[in-house]
Amino acid sequence: MSSTAFSRRFDLRLPLVQGPMAGGPTTPALVSAVSNAGGLGFLAGAALAPEKIASEVAAIRALTTRPFGVNLFVLDRADPDDATVRRALGAIDPLRAQFDLPPGAPLAAYAPDFRAQLDTLVDLRVPVVSFTFGLLPSEDVARLHAAGSYVIGTATHVAEALAWRDAGADAIVAQGAEAGGHRGTFIGEVAHALIGTFALTPQIADASGLPVLAAGGIMDGRGIAAALALGAQAVQMGTAFLGCAQSAIPADWKARLRASADTSTSVTRAITGRHARGIRNPLMAQLEAHADSVAPYPVQNALTQELRQRAARANDGDWLSLWSGQGAPLSRVREEGIGAAQLVDALDAEWRATLRRFHG
Ligand SMILES: Cc1cc2nc3c(=O)[nH]c(=O)nc-3n(C[C@H](O)[C@H](O)[C@H](O)COP(=O)(O)O)c2cc1C
Repeated sequence: MSSTAFSRRFDLRLPLVQGPMAGGPTTPALVSAVSNAGGLGFLAGAALAPEKIASEVAAIRALTTRPFGVNLFVLDRADPDDATVRRALGAIDPLRAQFDLPPGAPLAAYAPDFRAQLDTLVDLRVPVVSFTFGLLPSEDVARLHAAGSYVIGTATHVAEALAWRDAGADAIVAQGAEAGGHRGTFIGEVAHALIGTFALTPQIADASGLPVLAAGGIMDGRGIAAALALGAQAVQMGTAFLGCAQSAIPADWKARLRASADTSTSVTRAITGRHARGIRNPLMAQLEAHADSVAPYPVQNALTQELRQRAARANDGDWLSLWSGQGAPLSRVREEGIGAAQLVDALDAEWRATLRRFHG
């Protein structure tokens, strides 16, 4: 069990993918450090304009010759009506005022153009690509394959995994309910798709027959060994990497991760218009108090962005989206500001020690 077909394919020292995380954590320094240490580093490209994706990929390629990945959100263009935007701003404007920001207004665009991002990804011929929030048509999967990319789809239940398999995906991220960040659910209700990693991983592995990357709540070598025992070929870990030196998130977010408890997170759609798991704070509470005003993703996300950017500059975690998984308290055993390579080394030693225990 010390290697899997997935880890051998990408010549990984251990079956570890560093989860793509939009919003600052997955800098080229983080991605390349993970890949150089023998994991698979992953850039979050969803929030980036196509030119920025290209420059970040160039920066990664300057820092590593090892495989890495790029992730995107599958999104249609948002064209909200004025009333939806005004209603959302009714709840957001009083929060903006705390940072001396003027009332918000409708925006020219609410997210980067997905089709342009995808075209850039095809041009860049990156080794691994992954997608969440939706399903790519099989023609697009075929374009990525023709460009030499290995294609991974995110699923939160079996039907989504089968849809990705039918579209031609090479592997599935099985996103358990424990996971930090946005839910990838694209078929059915999010409330029905909060399946824990322990139940989800073997069901998706059995049903799809594809390599599965288990994601959600995995924070150490015990978790890696458990995921592999459940039929995963690798793990995808996000929250564990948030506290790394190379993760460019505000210090207060890192401090709140270390101070958190197992009960500290909730799933909310109030901050971005799409369900996501994060540490509860005043931003979450205030926006949830106006749940009827929340615009759909990516509109709500864009309308709350300037406020969250101001809070980031002020290092004020009360008004940030503190995305985090349920395993965050387990990061307290790590040295504060641990380097990504050091974390990969520790995970490698831990999961090998766990395997040895089972072998007696
Ligand atoms: C701050 C944050 C941002 C995230 N952004 C993305 C993203 O852009 N794309 C994606 O596919 N998954 C995203 N995720 C999910 C991670 O890639 C990973 O699957 C997840 O963190 C695994 O669960 P864990 O947090 O319990 O380790 C994000 C997670 C976090 C915590």
